[in-house]
Formats: sequence, C-alpha cells, structure tokens
Amino acid sequence: MKGVILAGGTGSRLYPLTKVTNKHLLPVYDKPMIYYPMETLINAGIKDIMIVSGKGHAGHFLELLGSGVDHGVHFTYEIQDKAGGIAQALSLAEDFVDGDSVTVILGDNIFQDNIKDDVISFKNGAKIFLKEVPDAHRFGVAELKGEKVIGIEEKPKVPKTNFAVTGLYIYDSNVFEAVKTLKPSGRGELEITDVNNYYINQGFMEYGVLEGYWSDAGTFESLLRAGMLVQQHRKKDSVEIL
Ligand code: G1P
Repeated sequence: MKGVILAGGTGSRLYPLTKVTNKHLLPVYDKPMIYYPMETLINAGIKDIMIVSGKGHAGHFLELLGSGVDHGVHFTYEIQDKAGGIAQALSLAEDFVDGDSVTVILGDNIFQDNIKDDVISFKNGAKIFLKEVPDAHRFGVAELKGEKVIGIEEKPKVPKTNFAVTGLYIYDSNVFEAVKTLKPSGRGELEITDVNNYYINQGFMEYGVLEGYWSDAGTFESLLRAGMLVQQHRKKDSVEIL
C-alpha cells in the first residue's frame, strides 16, 4: 500500500493567511496542518508516501518534512503545476503507485480515527470514509441504500443525507484509469467525487463510517474548529505519536 497526500490548491478561501505561505503549512493547534494527514497515513502502517503540492511553496514542504527518516518512512515529492483539481493531482502519482493500491488523503483533513485495519484488509475496488455532519452541503455527500453507497453528489444545495465523504480514500491501481475517463466539472477541475462515482457505477465501492472526530481546515471557521478539536482531544488521547 502506497500513500499520497494531496496538498495542492491555492488556499484562496484562507486569504490573506495564504498570501505568502501554503495552506497546508499553517498551524492547526500545535503542528503544521500537513502533519495530521501525514500521521494518519503513518499510523495506518504506510511507509511509502508521496506529497503532491503546488509550485509556490514546494521547497517549504521539503524543508519541513525532509526524507521521512525522522518518522521511519520515505517521502517522495511531486509538483502540481496548475490547480486542476484533486483527481488531477492524484493522477501525478501514477508512476509512484506503480500498480499497488493507494491510500489518498487530503492535506487539509484532520482525522482522529486510525484506519490501519481498513488498510490491512483492503483487497480491490475502492473504499471511502463517511462522517455524519450538520453542514453536508459543504462536502461530497453520499447517498446510501442499505449497506451500499449508490451515489455521491459534490456540494449539493439540498443534500440527500448528512453523510459527508471525507478526504480519505483507498483505491486499487485502476484509479488511474478512472481519472483518465473524467471531464472537468463546472469549476473546471477533475473531481475526486467523479472518481468515486466511477467505482460506485462499477459496483466496486465500499464505505466505512468514522467514529472519531473529523474536520477539514480550508476555511477560517473550519481551521479554527480543527485546532480546537485537536486541543480538546489531545489530553484525552493516551498515545501521542509525534
Ligand atoms: C473536497 C472534495 C469533497 C470532500 C472534501 C473533504 O472538497 O471535493 O468531496 O467532501 O474535500 O474535505 P474541497 O473542500 O476541497 O472543495
């Protein structure tokens, strides 16, 4: 299993915080944002991790994270020249993944859950992780029927459920073929939701529901909320990883 952290994008919703630095380097409580998705992958037992970032501050990621030796893992770096969407950023990892399965995490998503068991038991197809939220319209939203997810809508005005699709995905190596079938969305990007709907339509999508807290951190409100969640739970969590 390979890991990919997607840390591209311009961070426009956090301007001017992102005027001279990258969103994923901003603090979430006491660590740079990207440490959290990095820890989620490392805690899942993934040792080979690619970080995809935009051009602007790529050197800062390297300076911050280095080779990975401090964490007992290996980092590879890739550049997304233009903000073409999450799925386009993922497509840059095709050679790195090299026919393996891949756990993909968005660089601004903060998870409490440990997905080690999901990574170990993953065989093929795809798996997404859902969380019930009060503001589902801000996210990809899953439509469920019994044990199955039957569709995902990206930021619907009227969500069919309260289950947000979080920024954590496990794919088999077919994901790169899936990305090649995509057309840009209304916002001109290749959407990860379309990748997930590809797997749903093929009948190869599973889902899990997260038990712990989850937050994105790409807006002022969610960045503040993420920091507060981390702070509140820090004392309660018995195992400190880093
Ligand atoms: C992205 C995805 C969305 C997902 C969200 C999780 O949205 O497109 O499906 O629910 O991440 O944070 P973004 O906030 O990057 O537009």
